[in-house]
Amino acid sequence: MSFYIAGTGSALPEKVVTNDDLAQFLDTSDEWIVTRTGIRQRHVLTGERLTDLAVESAKIALRDAGADPSEIDLILCATMRADTVTPSLACAVGEALGTTVPAFDLNAACVGVLYCMEIADAFISCGKAKAVLVVSAEAMSKLLDWTDRSTCVLFGDGAGAMLLRAGEGRLAGELSTRPDTRAIRMPNIEGNSPYNRTEQEKLALQMDGGEVYKFAVNAMGRNIEQVCAQAGLTPADIDWYLPHQANVRIIDASLKKFRIDKSKVLLNIADCGNMSATSVMVLLDQYAKKGTFHSGDKLLLVAFGGGLTSGAVIIEWKKN
Ligand code: UT7
Repeated sequence: MSFYIAGTGSALPEKVVTNDDLAQFLDTSDEWIVTRTGIRQRHVLTGERLTDLAVESAKIALRDAGADPSEIDLILCATMRADTVTPSLACAVGEALGTTVPAFDLNAACVGVLYCMEIADAFISCGKAKAVLVVSAEAMSKLLDWTDRSTCVLFGDGAGAMLLRAGEGRLAGELSTRPDTRAIRMPNIEGNSPYNRTEQEKLALQMDGGEVYKFAVNAMGRNIEQVCAQAGLTPADIDWYLPHQANVRIIDASLKKFRIDKSKVLLNIADCGNMSATSVMVLLDQYAKKGTFHSGDKLLLVAFGGGLTSGAVIIEWKKN
């Protein structure tokens, strides 16, 4: 017994920042950003709290599933930066929903949702849970150096959620890391301990774009092969690909060898940029709400990110 996706939700900040908006204060252009990445705009937090977006998306997912918060046995949140170091975002969501079930955050960078899904599978398969709420929320705009054109044009903020219920739906899952502490790095605050002799690193996301690009193309291709083999499927059997939305060139290059029909590959990168852990979740919800998926469709979610982490999950869609 594993899980199926019973409901999904998402919430994005109101403020939309276009490439032209960025070109007003950065040495960049819409043409460079679109041709190198596929990104045209992104949503950015202004007055909203990330917690509020996470709670909103969770409530939408519960409504979509026709579920009451009392049915939830576990809350998992994928995030790199909750509003507070403690309490966790998962506890804040639990408070807003009025639950007292175990709740914790998980940081696997852009692969966070897939890691949460695999933990949910473990809890459900061993009988510890019947319904798991997975939430993802990222405030990337608060991690970036907005004077660094090589990173700040790439990311956006947002939140998403799904309710996973015990049943048949998950067909296979594959997670891995290729540990690398430099390729994508966001230092933590050093604080003001009079005993600390560690120097404060620059408090902004740093990235070796070329290195991540190479890793991403290889990892996504390998994860797709492995997860399909685990499910006894071929890449051609998959109805919908939901890849992490970091760069359309990475998506094209990693899927090229499988000769997948491009209409099966779902994208929201042009409108949302890279929302780290919450990219695949928001993508899933947006296409679910459009009515793209039908009962029995096979969905393959695949992602890579800081760590360096990667993973893929195949789900059979249960709702119409
Ligand atoms: O979720 C995981 C997180 N990260 C990723 O997935 C990122 C993976 N990497 C990438 O997507 C690509 O490597 C980037 C989009 C980050 C960069 O694309 P690229 O084609 O690898 O460009 P590049 O870094 O080789 O830079 C080419 C040029 C450089 O100028 P010079 O040295 O050739 O004169 C950069 O300084 O483009 C310049 N450049 C820019 N120009 C205009 C870098 N950023 C910008 C910019 N606007 N925003």
